Amino acid sequence: MTIQIPRGTQDILPGVVEKWQFIEGKAKEICNKYQYREIRTPIFENTELFLRGVGDTTDIVQKEMYSFHDRGGRNITLRPEGTASVVRSFAENKMFGNPTQPVKLYYLGPMFRYERPQAGRYRQFVQFGVEALGSMDPAIDAEVISLAMDLYKSLGLKKLRLVINSLGDNESRNAHRTALINHFEPRIDEFCGDCQKRLEKNPLRILDCKKDRDHELMKSAPSILEFLNEDSKQYFEKVKQYLSEMDIDFIVDPTLVRGLDYYNHTAFEIMSEAEGFGAITTLCGGGRYNGLVEEMGGPDTPGIGFALSMERLISALEAEGINIDSKYAADCYIIALGDEARDYSVSLLQKLRQAGFSSDRDYLNRKLKAQFKAAERLGAKFAIILGDEELQTGKITVKNLDNGEQSVMSLHNFIDEFSKQCR
Ligand code: HAM
Repeated sequence: MTIQIPRGTQDILPGVVEKWQFIEGKAKEICNKYQYREIRTPIFENTELFLRGVGDTTDIVQKEMYSFHDRGGRNITLRPEGTASVVRSFAENKMFGNPTQPVKLYYLGPMFRYERPQAGRYRQFVQFGVEALGSMDPAIDAEVISLAMDLYKSLGLKKLRLVINSLGDNESRNAHRTALINHFEPRIDEFCGDCQKRLEKNPLRILDCKKDRDHELMKSAPSILEFLNEDSKQYFEKVKQYLSEMDIDFIVDPTLVRGLDYYNHTAFEIMSEAEGFGAITTLCGGGRYNGLVEEMGGPDTPGIGFALSMERLISALEAEGINIDSKYAADCYIIALGDEARDYSVSLLQKLRQAGFSSDRDYLNRKLKAQFKAAERLGAKFAIILGDEELQTGKITVKNLDNGEQSVMSLHNFIDEFSKQCR
C-alpha cells in the first residue's frame, strides 16, 4: 500500500514553490521597509504557553491543538499560532530592555491546527505575521494594518475589505462582559454546551460560536462599542483617523471579536471580496494584546500584530486571476558529446557554478537533440556545446538560446571570456 500525505496538509512542488518564494521575498522586503526584523521561535512549545497565551476557552486550545507527551513526559504542542511564542521569547530574552523600542518583529513559518480540512483551511499552514511590542501609540496600530494591506496590494490584490473593531480596555471589557451575561443567561439552555460553559468563563466567546451563530440573541447582543470608556473611545478614534489619513479604507464591525482571548482595543480582519473565493473569506487577522507580555512573566508591555496565511493569500490571488510568474531559469546548460567531453564537463560545470552561473549538464547520456530539449526545459539562456573534437582544438561553442546566435570561445580562457561576453 502506498503511504499518503496526512489529511489537511500539502506538498508544495517545484514549479509552484517559486510562487511561494516570490511572495515570501515580498513579505520580507516590506518588513524591511517598515523596519520589522525576523524572529524564529521553535515549532513546538510547552503546552502551557498556549493555554495561557491563546486562552483555554478558545476553539484552538479546546479542540485544535496537536499536543503530545515527549519521551521525557513533557506536555508539548505544535504551535497553532505565532503570537504566544513571540511574546514568550520577548519576555524570556528581556527584549523590553533593548535600546531600540518598540520591538518590531516578523515571522514566517508553519502552524498546526486540528481543524476540519476544506478550501482555505489546512491542518498545517504557513503564517506570515508581525508583532510590535512596547508602544501604546495608535499610530502603530495603523502601521501594522497598513503593512498587511501593503503586502496584499503589492501583489496586485484589489478586492479587499478591511474590517476593524475595538474591544476596549479592561474596564470596558468588564462592563461589556456583565451586559453579555445578562443578555444570554435567561436563555442559555437554548445554546450549545460550549456556549453554556463560556457564559461564566468568557461570554465574549459566545459571539464567536460557529454552531449558534444564527440564534436570535446573537444579533441583539450588546455591542462592545456601547461600553467603551472615554480612553478606549479616544484610542479607537485615533486609529480610525490615522487609517483615513493613510488612505486605507475600512469598515467598523462591532461584532468582530476574533477567536483568540488575548485581544483588547483594536481588532481587525482583512477579507477577500473576490468572486468564487469560497466560504472562508478571512485572509488576515490581528489586533492589540496589552497584558499578554505580563501574562508570560514580563513587565506590563503593550503589543499589537497580525498573521495571515500564505495558503489563503495564494487562493485570493487565484480568485482575482493574478498570476505570479514562477518561472525558474538556468543560465547555462552544458551539452557534451563523447566520453572525453563528458568527463571534461564535470569540472567545467563546477567552474561555471563557482563563477556564479546557475548551470546544469546532462546526466542521462542523452543524444544531442535530447540534451538541447533538456536545456530548453530548464529555460537555460546559453547552451555550452562541447565535443571530443572541440576538446582537441581547444574550442567551445556557446549558443544563445534566446536568439540563436553562436560564438566560439577558447577552452583555455573559457570562464573569463564567457563571463565578459555573456553576463
Ligand atoms: P488567526 O485569526 O487565528 O490569528 O489566524 C490568522 C490567519 O491565519 C487567518 O486570518 C488565516 O489567514 C490564517 N489561518 C488560520 N487558520 C488557518 C488554517 N487552518 N488554514 C489556513 N490558514 C489559516 C492568529 O493566529 C493571531 N496569532 C494573529 C495575531 C498576531 N494577532 C496578533 N498578532
